[in-house]
Amino acid sequence: MRRIVIAAVARNRVIGRANGEMPWRVPEDFKHFKRTTMGSPLVMGRKTFESLGGPLPGRPHYVASRREGYAIPHEAATVVGSLEEGLRLAEESGAERAFISGGGSIYRRALERDLADEMILSWMKFDAEGEITFPEFDERAWRTERRDDRDEFEIVYYTKRRASD
Ligand SMILES: NC(=O)c1ccc[n+]([C@@H]2O[C@H](COP(=O)([O-])OP(=O)(O)OC[C@H]3O[C@@H](n4cnc5c(N)ncnc54)[C@H](OP(=O)(O)O)[C@@H]3O)[C@@H](O)[C@H]2O)c1
Repeated sequence: MRRIVIAAVARNRVIGRANGEMPWRVPEDFKHFKRTTMGSPLVMGRKTFESLGGPLPGRPHYVASRREGYAIPHEAATVVGSLEEGLRLAEESGAERAFISGGGSIYRRALERDLADEMILSWMKFDAEGEITFPEFDERAWRTERRDDRDEFEIVYYTKRRASD
């Protein structure tokens, strides 16, 4: 299973506000997110899940929380104790791809622990206000496979360089 970080990142690396809101609305990027992730599991943090207002259609959600007894009364969402557990369950479900879908704490852990094989980042062509940022990463550790330029953002597809490369 390929483990893919997907995120929309402002020029100043902001991805969201501390209250869970996204600081911008770019419908074309939502469309790209939907088209890319449809049918595949999403692994995300509890705050990101709660900001969605419910599971996104057509995709199983694995929601990481450390809270004792935290439950989501929806069959499309499974609470997991860690990002790693979410990825393991996604793999056991037979998925070929799983998307690590935020927020900041989950992206940070994925990169620190080397849990992602690929990244699909929508780099917005503007700065944004917000407290939550996408982590710095070592550009040399990632190969740019493809760039897709849109009006308000550019989608960059990265693959992790491995020792065997
Ligand atoms: N621009 C984008 O592409 C994008 C994508 C997604 C989200 N966002 C934004 O990101 C922001 C949310 O990010 P965030 O960092 O504040 O929150 P988050 O990562 O969505 O969720 C944090 C919560 O996830 C749980 N968690 C995190 N790491 C865990 C671990 N290793 N094991 C178990 N549980 C873990 C904890 O839940 P408990 O507190 O329940 O223990 C933690 O409080 C929002 O503003 C959202 O809009 C932006």
